[in-house]
Formats: sequence, structure tokens, C-alpha cells
Amino acid sequence: MMYQLFKPFLFLLSPEKAHRITVALLEFALLIPGLGWLLRRLFTLQHPQLERQIMGLTFPNPVGLAAGFDKNGHYLNAMSALGFGFIEVGTVTPIAQEGNPLPRLFRLPADAALINRMGFNNDGLDALVEQLKKPRPTGLIVGGNIGKNKITPNEKAADDYLLCFEKLFPYVDYFVVNVSSPNTPNLRELQDKAPLTALLQALQTRNLARPEPKPILLKIAPDLSTEQLDDILEIVQQTGIVGVIATNTTIDRKGLATATPTVEKIGMGGLSGVPLRARATEVIRYLRNRAQPGMVIIGVGGINSAADAQEKIKAGADLVQVYSGLVYAGPGLVKAINKSFL
Ligand code: FNR
Repeated sequence: MMYQLFKPFLFLLSPEKAHRITVALLEFALLIPGLGWLLRRLFTLQHPQLERQIMGLTFPNPVGLAAGFDKNGHYLNAMSALGFGFIEVGTVTPIAQEGNPLPRLFRLPADAALINRMGFNNDGLDALVEQLKKPRPTGLIVGGNIGKNKITPNEKAADDYLLCFEKLFPYVDYFVVNVSSPNTPNLRELQDKAPLTALLQALQTRNLARPEPKPILLKIAPDLSTEQLDDILEIVQQTGIVGVIATNTTIDRKGLATATPTVEKIGMGGLSGVPLRARATEVIRYLRNRAQPGMVIIGVGGINSAADAQEKIKAGADLVQVYSGLVYAGPGLVKAINKSFL
């Protein structure tokens, strides 16, 4: 409710600035003892019925923050105060990189959507590890979403993923292999059967060599064909990784309410938010109907209300994540979704 009052002012700012300012304000508010307590009370919902035992982990609730919002692990406190049960940090790359030139994040208010071509801007693996060494909110599950540097050729990509995996291992609860961002040139070619099998096999072999392996998930694009989705299912089974995050942003621009010239002027990037909802749900349903029993699916894409989250669950998701919904529906969305599970 309150957020709808603030939203017009936030929308006067560039999207990246609005992101920085809101999170900074939230972090500041949490430092003020009474206010921090009040915010947590307002936004979080704790209930035994919300708990999920998945992948050998106990999630305090099934609503997570999708990757890309907290790329450097700076906002675990702030975002857990908004009621998230889990936060996926990253995508992180071995070496810090600036990402694409500004502007690279755009709002499509008529569609409740975003287009981004951030390009894995992040402080690098070592900086993320330093952040994750700090004490974290109790019970919060933290996932590490890993990628490759722009300058790393695809033939050497596995080295980047393996390095991220090894260095992050002690500090995250699960891993996500991101080969589905449209904003790193040729990255999505790693979703093809041969390179993907090799990559996941290499990671899983390292994982299983450890006394206590951690769950590895694959994050996929919504733009895959059914044949490609069938391949994904086969690869997940063959490599023994725990499951899939469906989906990343789309390169599709069909059916938008925003005027075509406006969309064309924005240019390249991944579309997220409401226009992605139906396709992401369709991918989840397709995978669930054909997957081996026990394969984990985290559903993400266009969740802007509690009903949207339930749609993902009904389609077969075990957990859900949101990003764009925070911008359009506001931070109250997390609690609203959690309420709908009670
Ligand atoms: C993203 N997303 C993303 N995903 C990922 O795996 N690694 C990343 O670094 C990013 N970065 C990123 C930046 C921005 C600005 C946006 C909007 C999105 C994708 C995100 O995690 C999610 O999969 C999609 O946005 C779809 O969910 P929503 O936004 O429709 O809820």
C-alpha cells in the first residue's frame, strides 16, 4: 500500500539509481533499533507451515530473491528483513567486471516489465566471498549464482565456473549455474547439449569429491525449444544435479503493451516481469510433467502477485523467486505470497 505512494517518486529516478537508493534507505532504517524491528515485523511472516525441506536444506519460507538483485552479497540483511526465505547472490564472475555501459536497465511500466542488459556487472568472486564471511540472518538460505567473465572464451568457461564453485563452496547453501543470461555474448551456447553436459559433469564431479556435496541447479532461458528442454532433462538426470531454475529473462518481445518504437529504442537485453509470466510457467509445467521424481524446480518469471506465485507452484515449482515484482508490486509482495501459502 505504502509502496504505491512512493513508486511515482522512485520512477522519476533512473532504474539503477532507484534500486540503489531504496536498498540504501532500507539498510539505513535497519540500523535504527526500533525501526528495524518494526520493519521486520511489518514485512516478515514466520510460520512452521511455510517451512520447506528441499535439497536437504530447510527453507524458512518458499519465497526467494532472484539472482541479479544482490550481485555482490551486500543486501542479505536488508532483503531478509523484507521476508525472503532465501536469497540468491550473483551472478558472480571470477574477476570483477563493469558490465555494459549505461543505460542498461529500463522500465516498461505499461507492461509491468523490465529490460536489462547489465552484462554481469559485479565486484568479483573474492569480494563476494568477503561479504559472505560476515554474519548472516538466522535461518536464511543463500544460493550462489555463478557465471563466467565476458573475456573468457566458451572453451575455457568451465574453468571460471569451477573457480567460482570452489571459492564459494564454504559460504553458500546451494549453487546455480547460469548459462542463460542473454547479456554475455555467446553465453547461451553453453546450454547446448555437449558443452552443457561437460560443464555440469565437471562441476558435479568436483562436488561429489567433497565430504558433503551441495545442491547444484541449472538456470535456464525461457526461449528454449521443447527439444532443448528434453535435452536439459536428460542432462540433469545424467549428471545427477538436483534441478533447474526456470526461468531467466527472455529475448522475446511479442505481445507487449509498450509501443514498438519505444521497445526498439531500448534495444538488446532480457525482458522480465509480467510478460514473461505465462512462458516461464509453461516451461515449469513442461519440465515437471516429464522430470524424474524428485527433480527440484525453482519457478521464477513475472510473479507480481500471490496468485502468480501459486500458479508457478501448481505448475510444479517447489519454490519461487521474484525480482521485477519488487519494482512493480513493491516489497509487500513477499509477505502477500507467503500469506497465500497459509
Ligand atoms: C536479472 N536476472 C539475473 N539472473 C541471473 O541468473 N543472474 C543475473 O545476474 C541476473 N541479473 C539480473 C538483473 C536484472 C536487472 C534483472 C531484472 C534480472 C534474472 C532474474 O533473476 C529472473 O530470472 C528474471 O528477472 C525473471 O524474474 P522476474 O524479474 O520476472 O521476477
